[in-house]
Amino acid sequence: MTIHSSQSQPTETMIELIKVSKQYPPDVVALKDISVSIGTGEMFFVIGRSGAGKTTLLKLLCSMETPSNGLIEISGKSINQLKGHHLAKLRQKIGVAYQDFKLLTDRTTAENIAISMEVSYKKPQIIRKRVRDLLEQLDLSDKHDTVTGELSRGEQQRVTLARAIANSPTMILVDEPTGNLDAATTERVMALLHNCNKAGATIVIATHDDSIYRHTTHRVMELRKGQFHGMTKGNFS
Ligand SMILES: Nc1ncnc2c1ncn2[C@@H]1O[C@H](COP(=O)(O)OP(=O)(O)OP(=O)(O)O)[C@@H](O)[C@H]1O
Ligand SMILES: [Mg+2]
Repeated sequence: MTIHSSQSQPTETMIELIKVSKQYPPDVVALKDISVSIGTGEMFFVIGRSGAGKTTLLKLLCSMETPSNGLIEISGKSINQLKGHHLAKLRQKIGVAYQDFKLLTDRTTAENIAISMEVSYKKPQIIRKRVRDLLEQLDLSDKHDTVTGELSRGEQQRVTLARAIANSPTMILVDEPTGNLDAATTERVMALLHNCNKAGATIVIATHDDSIYRHTTHRVMELRKGQFHGMTKGNFS
């Protein structure tokens, strides 16, 4: 399938959801019959009120949760039944910045960020440089050796983002990346994500923060009670 990005360039599909539903026991319908295609290299905003299903959607995309019904394909491959080695391989290509951070709070900022690169056996000097560059871009250079449990929420949120993108994944899932940040720091975070996108990463951002999508040319879709409620902005085909 071919879809059109905001730059009107036809692109291959990276993420395809076909009639996907997710029900949590006993009877919470978090997502209902969601169908959407997201192109390779697209930046895609998912908005919606608290409880609308944004985090659930991201969890399905990284196989943290499995759908109750429907099909999810990444790069043309169904991920519903992936297990073991195949699942691990997929996860290596996906960077996730979780809404609840999931940092190792007794480890330093630098150690948390380095973890995502160590699993792919990068050289120590490459890891050190990448960590320093990311910390500089996120205005966190002075927190390099601080254990993350001692950081503010906004600082932890940025470390979470740095860890998600450190290994230059092809797909980046970001859950509320700016919830705890001031306007200037929000701009830094978005500049970094835009750079990842320009370098080719497909990015899905779940957010409440309209300052980060208000002026965007990228697609913005709203979830309401587990269903997409049409497109708010951006080009669509
Ligand atoms: N593990 C779970 N078990 C049961 N219900 C869940 C679970 N996770 C989410 N839900 C429910 O699914 C619905 C969607 O939740 P989700 O976390 O996806 O919303 P959200 O849009 O990310 O909200 P927020 O903006 O508050 O982060 C909610 O009604 C929530 O209570
Ligand atoms: Mg959420």
